[in-house]
Amino acid sequence: MTIGPDQSNDQFNPGSALAVCAVDVCRHYQMGETLIRAVDGISLQVRRGEFVALLGSSGSGKSSLLNLVAGLDRPTSGAVIVEDRDLARLSREELAKHRLRTVGMVFQSFNLVSRMTLAENVELPLRFAEVDRSQRPALTRHGLERVGLGARITHRPSELSGGEQQRAALARALINQPKLLLADEPTGNLDSHTGTEIMNLMREFNQSLGMTIVMVTHERALAERYAKRMIFLADGKLIDDQANSAVEPASLERERR
Ligand SMILES: Nc1ncnc2c1ncn2[C@@H]1O[C@H](COP(=O)(O)OP(=O)(O)O)[C@@H](O)[C@H]1O
Ligand SMILES: [Mg+2]
Repeated sequence: MTIGPDQSNDQFNPGSALAVCAVDVCRHYQMGETLIRAVDGISLQVRRGEFVALLGSSGSGKSSLLNLVAGLDRPTSGAVIVEDRDLARLSREELAKHRLRTVGMVFQSFNLVSRMTLAENVELPLRFAEVDRSQRPALTRHGLERVGLGARITHRPSELSGGEQQRAALARALINQPKLLLADEPTGNLDSHTGTEIMNLMREFNQSLGMTIVMVTHERALAERYAKRMIFLADGKLIDDQANSAVEPASLERERR
């Protein structure tokens, strides 16, 4: 099995062009007598700058796979290499740093800290990353402005709509300038209009910052509209991997608005 990047398309970029490389990855859960093969021998490569959708029905292993890439969980076997680092070789501290700086994550349920203001929520990863205290307010403000929440920085999550909460969660995920954004059903709790706003923001980060995005969804229509590549899982296995030529460029979307 070849682990490196596909050389044929890579002749002008001989360094690693890969954001994610998974090699025969398994995540099995032993539940009493039963072995649940949540991720069951998946190999895949995601290039830097790609916008990939992970599709599959509920229970197909999408979140489990994403959590392995995020370094929130470790595989039972196989290798997960993110930005050229084999996560299995990282110490506990290095893995924490990976979660803090290399990847940003958003979830269906936003996961903001309810007793903190938006500014405090977004500032949190800067504190963990030990960014100088004097720099944090401006970075936080800019991060919230970038998602259109500059006027809401002293609000608490409960004072915001679902879409605004997810935008704040995006600001928090991006505040340490991760190379890779991992989104697990980011629009799952939102109506379609608000979901579209979140997707447009993610596309903008992908296109203007070149940020790699891996997004879990079970909505094929959403994936078809935004992701340049669709990877399908079933029963913990990769069953299909398609380039999506139908994806709509951001410029066209802007014209339509
Ligand atoms: N912590 C866990 N313990 C035991 N089983 C789990 C755990 N997490 C997920 N699973 C099981 O693994 C399978 C895949 O789950 P998941 O990755 O959450 O799927 P998806 O995100 O595609 O809905 C499911 O059968 C689920 O019940
Ligand atoms: Mg899931």
